[in-house]
Amino acid sequence: MHPLQFRYKSKFFKEEILAQQAKGVLDVFENFFNENEFDYVIEIGTSFGGLSLFLYEQSLNHNFKFITYDWFGFKDGEWSNRLDKLKQAWGGELKFDFRDKNVFEESTIDEIASILKNNKCLLLCDGGDKPKEIQTYSEYLQDGSYIMGHDYAPTIDYFHENIKTKIWNWLELQDSDFEETMKKHNLHKSKKHYDKFRRFVWACLVKGED
Ligand SMILES: C[S@@+](CC[C@H](N)C(=O)[O-])C[C@H]1O[C@@H](n2cnc3c(N)ncnc32)[C@H](O)[C@@H]1O
Repeated sequence: MHPLQFRYKSKFFKEEILAQQAKGVLDVFENFFNENEFDYVIEIGTSFGGLSLFLYEQSLNHNFKFITYDWFGFKDGEWSNRLDKLKQAWGGELKFDFRDKNVFEESTIDEIASILKNNKCLLLCDGGDKPKEIQTYSEYLQDGSYIMGHDYAPTIDYFHENIKTKIWNWLELQDSDFEETMKKHNLHKSKKHYDKFRRFVWACLVKGED
């Protein structure tokens, strides 16, 4: 495990599951869920399931539906056993709604788009191509829904000055990746939450105003 990441300890069992996230981010999410109600929270990119496990627990506390997507075909299946530890800890079966699907395949886009169009949602883009995930899914969001992207810094300079080696070592998303999408689909940086999430390398965007 990289020292900037952490393992999440569930209340359900003693094993800890890797969350590929910066330390401290869960408090920001908890506050966010205390202040905002959702019908659905959808995560793109399950990986080992550490963040998914936390989000699943939040879904029980806050009464939203939670779905997490990963695609076992990614990297020719090299990462397809990453959920095994969590599965075992749960006695052989995942308790959350996990879907093994490529989020850029037409049928998956249709499936997620129909949820986004009909519900207040938070869509977390943490898969293999964060810019493309935001560009693909923004148009389907309802007013008041949120879309967030991970491994984010506003610019490369900001990343080198404030983030790298201190908070997080990976940059996969910056403002220039979604500026056009924001204009096209009426997205804004969340007035209430953008700054708090930016510290933990998430871009927090809302459709319309929050
Ligand atoms: C950075 S990891 C996710 C980390 C996880 N959210 C966490 O916080 O621990 C990215 C994941 O995206 C998945 N992925 C890559 N391309 C994908 C695609 N086209 N559709 C669905 N999942 C994809 C990879 O298999 C990988 O597990």
